[in-house]
Amino acid sequence: MAIRLTEEYLKSFVSSDEISALGPQVQKAHQDLHQKTGAGNDFLGWVDLPSKTPDALVAELTALAREVKGHSKAIISIGIGGSYLGIRSTIEFLGGEPSLPVYYAGHNMATSDMARILKVISDVDVTVVVISKSGTTTEPALAFRLIDEAMRRKYKGEELKKRIICVTDEKKGALRQIVSLEGYRSYVIPDDVGGRFSVLTPVGLVPLALAGVDIKAFVDGFRAGEKEFAVPDLAKNPCYRYAAIRNILHKKGKDIEMLASFYPNVQYVAEWWKQLYGESEGKNGKGIFPASTILSTDLHSMGQMMQDGKRNVFETFLMIDEVEDKIAVPHQAADTDKFNCVAGKDLDWVNKQAYKATADAHFEGGVPNMTLTLDRADAFHIGLLYYFFEKGVGISGYLLGVNPFDQPGVEAYKKKMFALLGKK
Ligand code: PA5
Repeated sequence: MAIRLTEEYLKSFVSSDEISALGPQVQKAHQDLHQKTGAGNDFLGWVDLPSKTPDALVAELTALAREVKGHSKAIISIGIGGSYLGIRSTIEFLGGEPSLPVYYAGHNMATSDMARILKVISDVDVTVVVISKSGTTTEPALAFRLIDEAMRRKYKGEELKKRIICVTDEKKGALRQIVSLEGYRSYVIPDDVGGRFSVLTPVGLVPLALAGVDIKAFVDGFRAGEKEFAVPDLAKNPCYRYAAIRNILHKKGKDIEMLASFYPNVQYVAEWWKQLYGESEGKNGKGIFPASTILSTDLHSMGQMMQDGKRNVFETFLMIDEVEDKIAVPHQAADTDKFNCVAGKDLDWVNKQAYKATADAHFEGGVPNMTLTLDRADAFHIGLLYYFFEKGVGISGYLLGVNPFDQPGVEAYKKKMFALLGKK
C-alpha cells in the first residue's frame, strides 16, 4: 500500500472497540460526503474531483509549461492560504530544483519580500500566475497591483499578455474583471471547491505544471486516493480510521494534534495541513488545534514539552519509507564521538531509529501517537496524501459536529483592517 497508518503507540489510549463503536457515525459522515447531504454540501466538489479532472487539462498545462519555459527564467506565484500553501508544499516536498524557480508573493505584506520579487522582475524574464478564488483578497490584490505595474513597465502588448496568467472564479470577483478588461489568460476555480481543498484545481495545477512537476502523476495520486479512501468500512480505510482516532483522542482531552516529521521537506505539507484542519474544524468553540514540528531539530526545542508538558496533545508522525539519497556514515579510526556503532549504516536508517525512539519515548511520556508512512516523496504520493487529509477532515469535521467547509472566522480581522484602511 502506498500510504500506511500504524497504531502501535495508541494502545491504552484508544481501543479497537472504541474505534468500531464509531462505525455508524463514520458511515453517516461517509454518506453525507458522497451523497452531499451534510453541512456545507455546496462545497463538496473536491470529493470526486480527481476522477473528474480531464486528462485534456493536464495535456494543456503541460504544453503551457513548455511555452513558458521558452520565454521565462522564473515564475512568480501570487496567492495566500489555499491559493498558496498547496503549491509551495508540493514543490518543497518534491525537493530538487523546479524546472523554473518559483517566487511566492501575496501571502504577506512585508516590504522586504516584495522588494525581492520586484528585483526578480527587473533582473530576469518572468511569468506571473495570480491566484485568488474570491478575486478580492487584500494580500494578493495588493501584491498583484505592484507586480502588474512592474510588469507593465518592462513588457508591452502581447509580450505582457503572454506573461500574466490569472486563476480565479468563472464569473465573480475583481480578478475576473481584470481578465475581461486586460485580456489576460485565465483558468477557472470550480465554484464548489473551497480554497483549502483546491490544490487539484488550476490553483495548484497551473503553477505546478510551470515549475515542471509531473502533474499527471500528481492527479493519479489523487485518483488513487479517491478510490482507496471511498471504502466505508473503518477496518479497511486508513483515512477514516485516522478521523475516528482523532475524534476519540479529542474526547479524552487531547486538544492538540502535533504533525511531526523527520523529513524537512514535509514542513510546508504541515503548513498546508494546518490550514486544512484549522479552518475546517476550528469553529463554534470546537476543534483540535493543529500544530507541527520538524524533527529531530525540534526535539531540541519542543522535545521537552512533548515529553513532559501538559498531557493534552497527541502526535501524528509523517514518515517516508524510501529516500532517494544514500549516504553512509564513515568509520573513524579514533572513534572519539563513539559513533563507530553506526559506521557503514545509511544516514536515513539512523534518522528512522530516531523516529522509533521518539515515538516510543513520547508514548511512555503520555503522548499517544500514530504514524502515516508514504512509500516515497514523489508527485503521486503527495497527491495521494492530500486526498487522504481532505477526506480525513471531511469525516472528522462531521464527527465533531461542525460544518468543515466554511470559514466564517477569517472575516473578522478583514472587517477591522478594511475599517483602518478606509476601504469601502
Ligand atoms: O480556505 C479558504 O477559503 C481561504 O483560506 C482562502 O484560501 C484564502 O483566504 C485565499 O482566498 P482567495 O483564493 O479567495 O484569495
